[in-house]
Amino acid sequence: MAEQWTIKKLLDWMTSHFTEKKIDSPRLTAELLLSFVLNMQRIELYMNFDKEVEKQKLDNLRELVKRCLNHEPVQYLIGRTEFYSLSLKVSKDCLIPRPETELLVERAIEFLRTRTGRQHVCDLCTGSGCIAVAMAKNFRDASIIATDICDKALSIAAKNVAKYNLADKIHLLHGDLFKPIIDQLDGKEFDLIVCNPPYISLPEYENLDQKVKNHEPRLALEAGPEGLDIYRRIAAEVGSHLKKDGLLLLEIGWLQGKAVKQLLDDTKIFGEIKIEKDLSDNDRIVSALKIV
Ligand SMILES: C[S@@+](CC[C@H](N)C(=O)[O-])C[C@H]1O[C@@H](n2cnc3c(N)ncnc32)[C@H](O)[C@@H]1O
Repeated sequence: MAEQWTIKKLLDWMTSHFTEKKIDSPRLTAELLLSFVLNMQRIELYMNFDKEVEKQKLDNLRELVKRCLNHEPVQYLIGRTEFYSLSLKVSKDCLIPRPETELLVERAIEFLRTRTGRQHVCDLCTGSGCIAVAMAKNFRDASIIATDICDKALSIAAKNVAKYNLADKIHLLHGDLFKPIIDQLDGKEFDLIVCNPPYISLPEYENLDQKVKNHEPRLALEAGPEGLDIYRRIAAEVGSHLKKDGLLLLEIGWLQGKAVKQLLDDTKIFGEIKIEKDLSDNDRIVSALKIV
């Protein structure tokens, strides 16, 4: 008689297999894959422990487990991730939003809430659109322009914007940093500019965890010999796009605080430039208020 695979048995089997193969968060990964295949919420797995899983679904699951053991991120396998309490679509064309980036969103929303009237916001390098969507969901009177050089990433951002009915608040533009903004809106200045750019240096990129290096887009990660290429360009161009009293918020790599602060200092357009640490005590966010 063919072996019977219940939800419980599958979860236990995957968890022990993933543990053995050193896959991150083995139980959670097992639950995410199985709930995706069965089109259930994770909690429903526990309410249906003894339910037998049909052959077609088992075949689908087996394929995903294989890819997972090849260190393909579970978020790409199930096509979504959680960010700032939102469920967002992701694909291999965009970076998987990281928890550290929620701190950038937090600071952005705090700043917006200190202002009155409609706030014009720019999210450079939007990728999945995670920062723009989280800001728009949490601050009512925002008009956000989000740009990315990768059109496939922008199509994921468009799905996230549509998922949360934010098309009237978020305008997606394809192109290189500020270029599409200049083309469209000549001379428009923003109250807030946020950016989580690629910031991994070439040597760091070569030694990245295989899970990241083999599966996430290089365009979203690597930024030249010191990882500072995009910050240099932002520092050079930001002056003509940010209002006086407007804020620039950048996510940075843990060793880049001093260098990015220097780049912004050199522009002589910012007052206090602050570097904030993340929960792991690494430098993570730079904020700079424009004073001229
Ligand atoms: C680190 S990812 C950040 C994605 C998203 N904002 C997040 O926080 O998860 C960087 C993004 O920058 C985009 N990018 C790289 N170079 C760019 C450029 N010169 N102009 C605009 N976008 C760029 C990549 O396509 C990628 O989507």
